[in-house]
Amino acid sequence: MRIVIANWKMNLLSKDIEAFCAACVSGYKPKAGVEAGIAAPYIYLKDVKAKLGPCGVKLYAQNAHFEAKGAFTGEISMAQLKDIGCDGVLLGHSERRHIFGETNANLVKKVKAAREHGLMPVLCIGETLEERDGGKMFDVLREQLAVLKETGAGPLVVAYEPVWAIGTGRVATVEQIREVHAFVAEELARNGAAGTPIQYGGSVTPDNFAEIIQVPHVAGGLVGGAALVPEKFLKLIEQAQA
Ligand code: PGA
Repeated sequence: MRIVIANWKMNLLSKDIEAFCAACVSGYKPKAGVEAGIAAPYIYLKDVKAKLGPCGVKLYAQNAHFEAKGAFTGEISMAQLKDIGCDGVLLGHSERRHIFGETNANLVKKVKAAREHGLMPVLCIGETLEERDGGKMFDVLREQLAVLKETGAGPLVVAYEPVWAIGTGRVATVEQIREVHAFVAEELARNGAAGTPIQYGGSVTPDNFAEIIQVPHVAGGLVGGAALVPEKFLKLIEQAQA
């Protein structure tokens, strides 16, 4: 299975979202073997759900808390996401890890909680440039994937996003993507998650995606900047479907 997800991050307002969803409803042509999704800010999730209607584009949140309910001011639970019709949730995005202190220990609980509530967890992993240049890349990725040893088996998507390629316009080379995706596939197998779809993310655009999607073990994309433009998002889905 391939899966293309638009990660809107903290972007777009109601009027943009209305236009985006309308473009999806008229332009999205589902094809077997390829899923499409939008990871919207919490406050717009219900709106996006209603505006997308039954067009087939799935709904993702960008994070969630691991507890089902309780005194956690400002947090949103997986139960609440499920309640409003979410299909999945991004977990451990590099911005969550680096700006908001997300930890692998928390991610174990979040992956479990997502599965308990019937949400597809998209576990994001990736090394910083410093880690790559310092020869620590594989150790970092191995540690991030070790989360899966503790979660056990279950539904899962992994997104490999080199931190230095996110929002920088600097996309990883096909060779770099090939090397890391092969490694991630192997690690997933070692952790009992063989066959998990592995998305690539980091400055993906319609200009580079057709080539990236052909790399072995690349099963789609997690896309920020380019996926703020509906025409580009739809084009990326078509490229995954080709
Ligand atoms: P980008 O973001 O496509 O803007 O690089 C990707 C992501 O952070 O998921």
